[in-house]
Amino acid sequence: MELCIAEVKDLEKVAELVNQAYRGISAPDWTTEVGLIEGPRTNRHSLEEMIENGASIILVARGNASGKLAGCVALTPMDSGEWYLSMLAVSPQVQSSGLGRSIMMGAEKFARDAGAHSLKISVINVREKLIEWYERRGFAKTGHIEPFPYDDPGVGVPLRGDLTLVTLTKSLMA
Ligand SMILES: CC(C)(COP(=O)(O)OP(=O)(O)OC[C@H]1O[C@@H](n2cnc3c(N)ncnc32)[C@H](O)[C@@H]1OP(=O)(O)O)[C@@H](O)C(=O)NCCC(=O)NCCS
Repeated sequence: MELCIAEVKDLEKVAELVNQAYRGISAPDWTTEVGLIEGPRTNRHSLEEMIENGASIILVARGNASGKLAGCVALTPMDSGEWYLSMLAVSPQVQSSGLGRSIMMGAEKFARDAGAHSLKISVINVREKLIEWYERRGFAKTGHIEPFPYDDPGVGVPLRGDLTLVTLTKSLMA
């Protein structure tokens, strides 16, 4: 599986994929935000802002035979060699078949080759199975908990009042 850098022309399809992956109902229940947050996770305009001036990089994976978009992930360089990884998404039709794992490995390699020392992610506190999934990929909780952005309409409509964001990091140094 090869990861390519998404261009502006790809972003409509990337937004569609992310919204289906996070909030679609046809995926296995542990993999999604269904029941936690309603509404779109993102849109083309937000993605354009993300990659504007190279602030973030969106990597996409395509099906070998079809060339159809199958997954994506975003990487944002921050201070001191730490990069923020977000928007990891796999098309609901192919979730739980190892693609998420491959995308993570590809994203780690991309970041390491570009000089990153570590990756940081934020996961919604109640998604315990997803947190365990990241822990199996070598991420560890930092102990830092961030408030959920309840006042940001751009993230969708939260259905619970007890959401927070758990921070995990992974060193990319050998
Ligand atoms: C989370 C996500 C990226 C994982 O990608 P994926 O391709 O579905 O996952 P993989 O096939 O690589 O891995 C499947 C894992 O699920 C585990 N699994 C399968 N069924 C499970 C179940 N019922 N409960 C818990 N874990 C289960 C498998 O053991 C495997 O883990 P392992 O590789 O450590 O053994 C993907 O499901 C997704 O796009 N979810 C929606 C978007 C999202 O929530 N992104 C993360 C935001 S922080």
